[in-house]
Amino acid sequence: MSNANEKRLAGESAIRYVEDGAIVGVGTGSTVAFFIDALADLRDRIQGAVSSSEQSTTQLKKLGIPVLDLNATGPLSLYVDGADECDPHKHLIKGGGAALTREKIVAAASDKFVCIIDSSKRVDLLGKFPLPIEVIPMARSLVGREIVKRGGNPVWRDGVVTDNGNWIIDVHGWQIVDPVALEKDLNQIPGIVTVGLFAQRAADVVLIGDREM
Ligand code: 5RP
Repeated sequence: MSNANEKRLAGESAIRYVEDGAIVGVGTGSTVAFFIDALADLRDRIQGAVSSSEQSTTQLKKLGIPVLDLNATGPLSLYVDGADECDPHKHLIKGGGAALTREKIVAAASDKFVCIIDSSKRVDLLGKFPLPIEVIPMARSLVGREIVKRGGNPVWRDGVVTDNGNWIIDVHGWQIVDPVALEKDLNQIPGIVTVGLFAQRAADVVLIGDREM
């Protein structure tokens, strides 16, 4: 099965976790786009969505799904999002689409995180996909040096500005044996806004196509 077909199946399968009257946390990316398309069929049965990016907000609004402010909604029951890599413990690398900060916020505000991927994203060890890190622009070089000290190869995603006005560094060359420890360590470096490791708050459910991992 092609990756696109698996992504579509995963997006459509996640609909079974949406309860009547819910406010749904919505991630970002091509897999999530399939979920949003399917969610549109339920638009009269949900209160709306909290979006993790301008890209998803545009699609949600176009399909008539109300987009709500997380400060007004309180905790969410469900968050649905894709990933760039997923290990056997449901630890994730995210941020290929540069939306990691809002994604991490909405994931943290949600009781259940359903991650939707195609089988190419499933790995035994995280790190082949370069780890995205959102940084305050003036801290780019400082953060880069700290990453080099830790054995990583930082590459500035030149030309990309996040929805929050920040920059992205992609770290190549790390084999991430202890994702929780690395996430905690990197979170201490001044100027890092968000690390694209979702390990302290991992996914609760992973759907690979229509199959639960
Ligand atoms: C965006 C993300 C995406 O979830 C991730 O890049 C996967 O995208 P896709 O579903 O297009 O493969 O983390 O910041």
